[in-house]
Amino acid sequence: MADHWIENHKRDSWRRQAKASGYRARSAFKLIQIQERFKLIREGDVVLDVGSHPGGWAQVAVELIGDGGLVLGVDLEPCQPVEGATILVGDITEDLTQERILEELNHRPINTIISDISPDITGKWDVDQTVAMTLVADVFDFSMKLLCKGGSFTSKLFQGVGVEELIKAVKPHFSEVKRFSPDASRNSSSEVYLICRNFMPWTVTKHINIRKKYEELLEPKLSGNEIDDGPKEVYSSFQVRRKKAD
Ligand SMILES: C[S@@+](CC[C@H](N)C(=O)[O-])C[C@H]1O[C@@H](n2cnc3c(N)ncnc32)[C@H](O)[C@@H]1O
Repeated sequence: MADHWIENHKRDSWRRQAKASGYRARSAFKLIQIQERFKLIREGDVVLDVGSHPGGWAQVAVELIGDGGLVLGVDLEPCQPVEGATILVGDITEDLTQERILEELNHRPINTIISDISPDITGKWDVDQTVAMTLVADVFDFSMKLLCKGGSFTSKLFQGVGVEELIKAVKPHFSEVKRFSPDASRNSSSEVYLICRNFMPWTVTKHINIRKKYEELLEPKLSGNEIDDGPKEVYSSFQVRRKKAD
């Protein structure tokens, strides 16, 4: 009960701070804290904000890029315009939305992808977590190849099955992949951010399929066919000596 009270209190405190500083959502502080630690967004950057409603991250990104850059948000839900950002309404996994994103980018490579995407919650934790992981893999598949050399990709993940496998699937494409829990999301213990820095474009082909790779890596775990090396041999100096007959 006491823990619950503390969590609610912290959440309310971030909400109050967001209101006082003009941000639309307390999630803005998560991006601010990620930025303080990893310096992902720079002046003049092109930023893709995936799952951008109601616009808290877009507000922060606009402040960071200054005048020369572009913040392009996309969400299933329409939101109030964010000054300095372009926000599209659509499903990031659908062709039509992807074409509109490409049009808006007009061949400009992306410096930073920030994704706070969360699918609709059914209330069944296993189902929600699995759907969320697959959605993140789909976002990688569409957007990673649009990143410039040295670009970064940050995504919310929900802790649980598949996190290790997704990290394994994306690791070859970035020189640094880390998990980070900003203070502002500590009250949501299931949430963690995956920070992938320094994209290496020469590691991806046109037909890259992170989702397929992720599902292949996950398959043995789900079917219970993980290779078991069996019990390890234990070496010891202890020996059994026969007692000499008298
Ligand atoms: C936690 S909210 C994002 C909050 C946002 N970062 C902010 O600071 O205001 C997650 C968003 O992901 C969006 N979303 C979920 N699935 C999506 C999809 N397939 N395509 C685009 N947006 C999606 C939801 O509509 C929701 O608004």
